[in-house]
Amino acid sequence: MAFESESFSLVETSARRELDAAPDVEALQAWRVAYLGRRGRITQILRSLADLPLEERRRLGAAANRLKADLAAAYGERCARLQEAHLARVIEGARLDVTLPGYPLPQGHLHPITQTLRDVLRCFENMGFQVVEGPEVEWDYYNFEALRIPLDHPARDMWATLWIDYERDGQRPMLLRTHTSPNQVRVMEQSQPPVRVVVPGKVYRFEATDPTHDWMHTQVEGLAVDEGISMADLKGTLAEFAHRIFGPERKVAFSCDYFPFVEPGMELRIDCFLCGGKGCRTCGHSGWIEILGAGMVHPEIIANVGWDPERHTGFAFGMGIERIAMLRHGIDDIRLFYANDLRFLQQF
Ligand code: FA5
Repeated sequence: MAFESESFSLVETSARRELDAAPDVEALQAWRVAYLGRRGRITQILRSLADLPLEERRRLGAAANRLKADLAAAYGERCARLQEAHLARVIEGARLDVTLPGYPLPQGHLHPITQTLRDVLRCFENMGFQVVEGPEVEWDYYNFEALRIPLDHPARDMWATLWIDYERDGQRPMLLRTHTSPNQVRVMEQSQPPVRVVVPGKVYRFEATDPTHDWMHTQVEGLAVDEGISMADLKGTLAEFAHRIFGPERKVAFSCDYFPFVEPGMELRIDCFLCGGKGCRTCGHSGWIEILGAGMVHPEIIANVGWDPERHTGFAFGMGIERIAMLRHGIDDIRLFYANDLRFLQQF
């Protein structure tokens, strides 16, 4: 049966209604196949006109083609609108709201050794010392020779050394400094008395590790040279330091020790925080933990930098910061500081 104008308008009405209701691109595609496709509604209409007389076929054919063109145009518009709506949704979703609160970042903190180092330096700064630094890679001369430890001196065994294969201008080889004491000479060479300095830094030793020894540790060297400085000044300064850092109730003990660059030499020990002085694995069953070596600067060293040892005297000390941090926090193994275990580090 052929189509009349009235039937065209029915098809058009239902086509437009369905087109308007198509919610997404898939539905639009299905609509296009159903109405404009090769087996779609409009094609069927056009085919059904084949048997009509020529005049009528022309009239209805033209109307069917108009309808097809109108519906194709409507389809195009609907496609564009749906794409616009889709794009608007994407833009809306991707919009940056600068008023939203940010993500909280985990907060880090200073390493426990840095914390203790800063406390120690502040303590000496408050007593009038100035902080200076020296090189970690050092000449044999400053690390040993200038400190009265020549090549064949047995005291070299006190500091098992990591050597660096390098020589220059006839100077003996370089090394990773085994202590911060080379800075005693470096500072005196570059200044005039009075001198009051503390020198922080890492030092390296070629030795086996145990609960109180690591192959790298942090030292703070102290040096004071002036007219009339005596052993009493050294003991007073170190006792004051110990009480400011560990609290007034902590026991300190001075005992004789030997270092080629001081005369007399001594060490400062603190009662063991773990066993309270009874003796345990951490203190080597002695009840005490040694935290520094010290003494009166040897007159030969003062003379070697061109100062008059009859007029200028001084004291020096070198302390291990890891040992001090162990005592302060009750840590029983020095190796924990550099094992990079966050469960340990986060406690400070
Ligand atoms: C010295 O290094 C001397 N330069 C100290 C000194 C300076 C004496 C000025 C006189 C005048 P000693 O090797 O004892 O001395 O080390 C000093 C401190 O560093 C020790 O008391 C200890 O606290 C710490 N220390 C030494 N060896 C280690 C190690 N392997 N691991 C951790 N700390 C260490």
